[in-house]
Amino acid sequence: MSMLPVPDTAIIVVAAGSGTRLNAGAPKAFVGIDSHSILRHALDGVFAAGPAQVIVVAPAGFEGDAETEVRAAAGDRVDLGRVVTGGENRQQSVAAGLKALWGDVTRVLVHDAARALTPPEVIDAVARAIDGETGVIPTLPVVDTLKRVEGDAVIAPVDRSELAAAQTPQGFPRALLEAAYDAASGSDVEYTDDAALFAAAGHLVRQIPGSPSGFKITTSADLERARQLLAAVAIPAPDLAPTWTGPRVGLGTDVHAFGGDGNLWLAGLQWPGEPALSGHSDGDAVAHAIVDALLGAAGLGDIGEHFGTAHPEYAGAHADVFLARTREILAEAGFAIGNVSAQFQSNRPRFSTRRAEAEQVLSTALGGAPVSVTATTTDGLGFPGRGEGIAVTAVAMVHAV
Ligand code: CTP
Ligand code: MG
Repeated sequence: MSMLPVPDTAIIVVAAGSGTRLNAGAPKAFVGIDSHSILRHALDGVFAAGPAQVIVVAPAGFEGDAETEVRAAAGDRVDLGRVVTGGENRQQSVAAGLKALWGDVTRVLVHDAARALTPPEVIDAVARAIDGETGVIPTLPVVDTLKRVEGDAVIAPVDRSELAAAQTPQGFPRALLEAAYDAASGSDVEYTDDAALFAAAGHLVRQIPGSPSGFKITTSADLERARQLLAAVAIPAPDLAPTWTGPRVGLGTDVHAFGGDGNLWLAGLQWPGEPALSGHSDGDAVAHAIVDALLGAAGLGDIGEHFGTAHPEYAGAHADVFLARTREILAEAGFAIGNVSAQFQSNRPRFSTRRAEAEQVLSTALGGAPVSVTATTTDGLGFPGRGEGIAVTAVAMVHAV
């Protein structure tokens, strides 16, 4: 048995609607936002607020499911929760909830389960603001420019400073709310919310600030908004200062067509008699792919940014210049080069006889970091196979110093 004192506040959570506009195949309150239902999220907020009797008004046939959600959300306050069956419309559902109030309750909050993400602070603020004769509702200012319309005709502007958008929970002194509901049950008028019904009985209603999170889930777009909000909470934004201080890898690729002037330059070497590659500088696609891999590993942009056409001083440069400058850029950012591996796809030149020489040139330009270069043909497939050009892939590992 709980030793908690009996609270003087009750929260009626109306969850008996069918959710025709959401149209999700189940009563709206039992539709999942994430792994938890709309009702469960609403109850999490309700039980996180100050202690209150909690009455969940469930659709007929779903009382057991509602009970399960109450148990899951209530924690050690489970004795404060109970479930009743709802009615044909919202007003009848609230009336059913009122019948279940404990004798000690003097203040009643009526809350839409569909406002599943309402912060507990709003619930507490409403409860605090209720006095002996006044109702309290949370509102948001209206931000849109509003028009009075008739068919497709715009009749008049509406001064939005006179308007507010009403949310829940709406709070009332118990005795006056019960009397107002008794009076309303005898009339044919269906009120849009509890504040309207309460005001129709001649009582005053005051507003306090609501919360944007207290929006009502009505359509699938609203459900999507709720999902986004919860996902944003669950996955914290990445820390701007990277926490990983170990080695970092980078990938670079480059493709050049044969058809340049003069001799081929590839992997830091000149290849007399071989057709030249076209492209900025000497067209050395192996060097360019390595530069991109190194810059990528350090998170320092790419080759176009550091060596592109905006830098004409590199127009005729060879691999040694590019790589030495890349090493400098990394060093200025606090990175040293671990190693580099590159592979090009082409039928020519025959690379194996000059591999060691090429690796030596490239490694020297990078301050001695190991560089390995391999070559492969593509079995006659694709543009390298047809002898139209060369494709290169390079990976690099760098580390902070
Ligand atoms: N509600 C209720 N009993 C009803 C109708 C509505 O308890 N007979 C509750 C809903 O469960 C919801 C709140 O009143 O938490 C606001 O209603 P609304 O957003 O209109 O929900 P539904 O009526 O379920 O949706 P729809 O109008 O699209 O069918
Ligand atoms: Mg409805």
